[in-house]
Amino acid sequence: MSDSATTGGESLEHELETLLSVERFDPPEPFKEQALLDDPEVYERARRDPQGWWAEQAAALDWSREWDTVLDDANPPFYKWFTGGKLNASYNCVDRHVEAGIGDRVAYHWRGEEGEERDVTYADLHRDVQRFANALKDLGVAPGDIVGIYLPMIPEVVVSMLACARIGAVHNVVFGGFSAESVRERMEFSEAKVLITVDGARRKGRTAPIKATVDDVMGDLATLETIVVVRSTGIDAPMTDGRDHFYDEICDAADPVCPPEPFDAEHPLFILYTSGSTAKPKGILHTTGGYLTGVAATHRHVFDLKPESDVYWCAADVGWITGHSYIVYGPLLNGATSVMWEGAPDFPHQGIWWELVERYKATILYAAPTAIRTFMKWGAELPGKYDLSSLRLLGSVGEPINPKAWLWYRRVIGGDRCPIVDTWWQTETGAIMITPLPGIVATKPGSATLPFPGIFAEVVDESTGEPIDEGQGLLVLTQPWPSMLRTLYKEDDRFVETYFARFGERTYLVGDAARKDKDGYFWIIGRIDDVVNVSGHRLSTAEVESAIVAHERVAEAAVIGQSDEDTGQAIAAFVTLRGEIEGTDVVVEEIRAVVAERIGRFARPKRIIWADDLPKTRSGKIMRRLLRDIAEGRALGDVTTLRDPGVMGALEQKIKEGQAQEN
Ligand code: WTA
Repeated sequence: MSDSATTGGESLEHELETLLSVERFDPPEPFKEQALLDDPEVYERARRDPQGWWAEQAAALDWSREWDTVLDDANPPFYKWFTGGKLNASYNCVDRHVEAGIGDRVAYHWRGEEGEERDVTYADLHRDVQRFANALKDLGVAPGDIVGIYLPMIPEVVVSMLACARIGAVHNVVFGGFSAESVRERMEFSEAKVLITVDGARRKGRTAPIKATVDDVMGDLATLETIVVVRSTGIDAPMTDGRDHFYDEICDAADPVCPPEPFDAEHPLFILYTSGSTAKPKGILHTTGGYLTGVAATHRHVFDLKPESDVYWCAADVGWITGHSYIVYGPLLNGATSVMWEGAPDFPHQGIWWELVERYKATILYAAPTAIRTFMKWGAELPGKYDLSSLRLLGSVGEPINPKAWLWYRRVIGGDRCPIVDTWWQTETGAIMITPLPGIVATKPGSATLPFPGIFAEVVDESTGEPIDEGQGLLVLTQPWPSMLRTLYKEDDRFVETYFARFGERTYLVGDAARKDKDGYFWIIGRIDDVVNVSGHRLSTAEVESAIVAHERVAEAAVIGQSDEDTGQAIAAFVTLRGEIEGTDVVVEEIRAVVAERIGRFARPKRIIWADDLPKTRSGKIMRRLLRDIAEGRALGDVTTLRDPGVMGALEQKIKEGQAQEN
């Protein structure tokens, strides 16, 4: 496969450099010819009548009762969609495909770390979801109850989510990379009644005990009545009589038939905690009808999905919104066949992704820029060893993709024939908001291009809120959309304050800066708040700071996101120690360990800078802007508002010494 002109180091490098001057790539003709949407008129139609457009998308779902009103905007920003309508999410994801006679279609080609394969069909899901839904009912779970889910990438995670949806319970999934402490916190905030977890989880050939770790921290949570344990790895799981149950045992004991009950369109479907500006994570609440409408429509049209022939692979984790919307709900609503990979991109070997693309003849791949940059670093020879000719469309999500990575993705993985959809959205938006439609929109490397039909985005002036035609400002969404968050769980005021205070209750403040170019294309720049994006994982600086100060020797900490070649941003922490203690490598490791324990390994600071003092205003506020300047080696901004301007000189000196050491 590999000839040096296409995959070889230097010539490829040269080729990518040349391509950097190409401004735009039109949809390739062969792609356009077969695309579901190929007429730009769709944008105009949705702009003229957004409610009509969304109603049309909603009609693709199966409703037990049709809605009375498409959009109820009587009480902004608390919008309601499809009011009066009733439906069941799990029925739409599973039963209706079985009833249509495609029950033996594979929903997931699941592949385990050790090479095990499980093909889970829609009929399999139908059987398992009903049993588990009944088992949850037997445990006393009722509509509106919160059920925590802390599981690795195994099919049971999908079954658990759908079983909740089937009986109107609200799932609260916690990403497997979060620590048990984080799980506890999220169970506490949401007052979860049940937690579904696993005996142990595999990661790169090792098995980590999960149930035992959860037990260590969960003990005194009064609201948590039950823990359900999936036996996945066979590792020993301590069980508490009366509270803990094995998943397989309660499923076996449950009735196999659980009719899907219709729920109101605005019935809560799930909460997903995400990081905001403070240490307390925000419980993003999504409801049923609008969310399902948004994810089904975007999944179909952005990925040009042909469920009969496509093999779709979203290489995210189910524990993030990307997994919720584009591994579970979107693909299942559309009857897609997906690949589900349990493991890491470099285990058992660095070519595993490409081995899986070849093995399952994947046609669509949806991944994060961090992964793409990592593959770039490993070299084009690896993917060159596999047959990737089945691929026809590539997607990117989670962080800005730099033009060079975009071009590498297009050239090396997509063989120049696959359009790239760079999709911008958030946990809060539920579904993709800014993205090309691959059969219509010409792409520009690094730009997420245009709002999806029916979505209204603007770049506005930071101070006046006036739209900017061409230039940089704050990204906002100016009209409600079906899959928008409805509130922050139990924190309505914080919801209004965070998203709708700055420019009024009808303008959703995204929290990203963006630029709009002369063609009206959007270029996402990055967060404007204290949220850091490490490898597409969203973290708050305050969250990491509060973990660091939990270390007994730390007096104070200030955390910033620093640009990083591999992970987009990396965490740098300025730390002041107590008393006379020296900042040694041992202390560095201890601090990193505290962060791993309280949040998760992925949140550990990459760099720790010892500071005798931190730059503070006279009112005592830490000026992170100055810390960012100093960490990035930029000229310092205005320091006159500092209580003690001398602090910055001392810090600069420390950084220089540190760099000398690193060299
Ligand atoms: C960033 C992930 C640039 C952005 C789906 C946003 C992106 C945050 C893109 C949301 C993209 C996501 N280009 N930046 N295509 N997609 N982001 O909630 O800063 O985990 O606000 O949702 O990721 O992260 P979240």
